[in-house]
Amino acid sequence: MNDTLSNSAVLSAYRARTPGSAALAREAASLFPSGITHDSRHLEPYGVYVARAAGPHKWDVDGNRYVDYYGGHGALLLGHGHPAVTAAVAAALAEGTHFGASHPRELAWARAVQRLVPSAERVRFTSSGTEATLMAVRLSRAFTGRPVLLRFQGHFHGWHDHMAAGYTNHYDGSATPGVLAEVAAQSILIPPNDLPALKAALARGDIAAAILEPTGSSFGQVPIDAAFLHELRRLTEEAGTLLIMDEVVTGFRASKGGAQAAYGVRPDLCSFAKILAGGLPGAAVAGRKDVLDRLDFAVAARTGQEKIQHQGTFNANPISAAAGTAALTTIAETDAAEAAAAIGAALRDAVNAVFAEEAVGWGMYGTFSGFHTFLGAPGVTVQPGAFVPETQPMAVLKSQPAVLSHKLRLALLVNGVDTNGRIGGFVSATHTADDVAHTAAAFREAVRMLRAEGELVVRS
Ligand SMILES: Cc1ncc(COP(=O)(O)O)c(C=O)c1O
Repeated sequence: MNDTLSNSAVLSAYRARTPGSAALAREAASLFPSGITHDSRHLEPYGVYVARAAGPHKWDVDGNRYVDYYGGHGALLLGHGHPAVTAAVAAALAEGTHFGASHPRELAWARAVQRLVPSAERVRFTSSGTEATLMAVRLSRAFTGRPVLLRFQGHFHGWHDHMAAGYTNHYDGSATPGVLAEVAAQSILIPPNDLPALKAALARGDIAAAILEPTGSSFGQVPIDAAFLHELRRLTEEAGTLLIMDEVVTGFRASKGGAQAAYGVRPDLCSFAKILAGGLPGAAVAGRKDVLDRLDFAVAARTGQEKIQHQGTFNANPISAAAGTAALTTIAETDAAEAAAAIGAALRDAVNAVFAEEAVGWGMYGTFSGFHTFLGAPGVTVQPGAFVPETQPMAVLKSQPAVLSHKLRLALLVNGVDTNGRIGGFVSATHTADDVAHTAAAFREAVRMLRAEGELVVRS
C-alpha cells in the first residue's frame, strides 16, 4: 500500500468501520487478481463489500449505509430495486431463463428502444457494451469497406482490442499489453474538440467510422463541445464515414432518447448497455437499417455480400429483456431522466457551496445526472466552488492528485458516500434533497479530515 497512507487518520477510520469488508478482501486476494472483478473497484487497502441496496442507498457487510453514486456503473437511473423492474424480473424468472429460441420479450425490449431512440431502425442485442461497440466497429468496416477507426483521446468504449488504447494512457494509439500492433495501427486517436485534427483525419479517406462518447470522455469529465458534435456529424457524412455514438452511459440518461435526442444529432449507429437492461447484463447496437443489414441472412443472399456472423449465448436473454423493457417503459412514461438531472444539478451546487465555504480550491462539475470533482492541478488556480472545465485541457481534467483523491474517496466512504475513484458518479431519480444534504455534509467533513492531516492547500 501507498506509504503516504500508513499514518493517515482517514485510513484508520476507514479500517475501523469496515472489518467485515477487510476479512472478505483477504479471502478475495487468493481468488482474483488484485482481489477484484473490475478494474474500477481497485481501492487500497480494500473496497467495501456490499450486502444489499435500495433506491439511492446501499449497505455494506458491516451495516454501514452509503448514498450510492456508483449507481451500478451508471445502469441504475431508476435506483436500486425499482419495483417495476424487480416485478418484471420475477415474472420472467418464473417462466424460464433461456429458451434457445426467439421469444416475445425480445420484441417488446426492441420496441421500447425504438420508442425512445428514433435512429434505431434496427436493433441487435449483445451481452455487454464492449460487445456492442465491437459489433458497431465491425459493421462500419464491412459497410464502408474502409479499415480505419477514428477515436477521441480519453473516450472509453469497453476493453476489446480496438478500444484498449487511449482511455487512461497510450493516447498515441500504440498497442497495450496483449493487443497486436497491427490491430492498434488501424485506430487513430485525436484530441476531443479539435476540428483541424478531425478534418485532417477524415481527409485520409480510409476512415470507416468515428466513435465517441457524445457528452465527452467518462460522461463529460472532459466535455465535448455541442458545436463540435454537430460539426462531427456534418463532416463525417461528407466524408462517407459512419458516426457511432457510444450511448452506453448517456442512453436514456442524457434524455429519454439519450444524447442524440438531447443534442439533436442523428448517428448512423449507436451502442447501448447499462440502463438499457434495467440493471441486468445486456446491451445493443442499433441504427441504420442498411448498415445492420450486414447481419441479415436474406440481404446477404440477395446481394452476394458475405454476412457478418454474430452469435452470443445470452443475447436478448429473457430476464434482461424483461428488466430492460420495464426500465425503458418507466423512463418513457415518467420524468426520471429529467428528475435525476435536476438532483444532479442540486448536488453540484450544494457541494460547490461547501468548497467555497471551506475555501478549498476544488470544483464539482458535470452535465445531466453526472458529476466530476476537480481537485486541482499544478499551475491551475480555481476559485473555490467555481470551476469551469471548458477552460482546461484534457491532460488537466484527467489527472487528479493521486494521494489526495485516494484519501478523499476513503473519507467520503467513512462519511457514508460512495463515489467512483475519480470522485465522480451518477445520480438516480431516487436520490432526494436529504441525500444531497447528507452528501454535502460528507464532503465538508472529508475536507476537514484531509485538512487535519495536512493534505489541503488552503486559499484565503
Ligand atoms: C461509454 C462506454 N462504452 C462502453 C462501455 C463498456 O460497456 P460494458 O462494461 O457493458 O462492456 C462502457 C462501460 O462503462 C462505457 O462507459
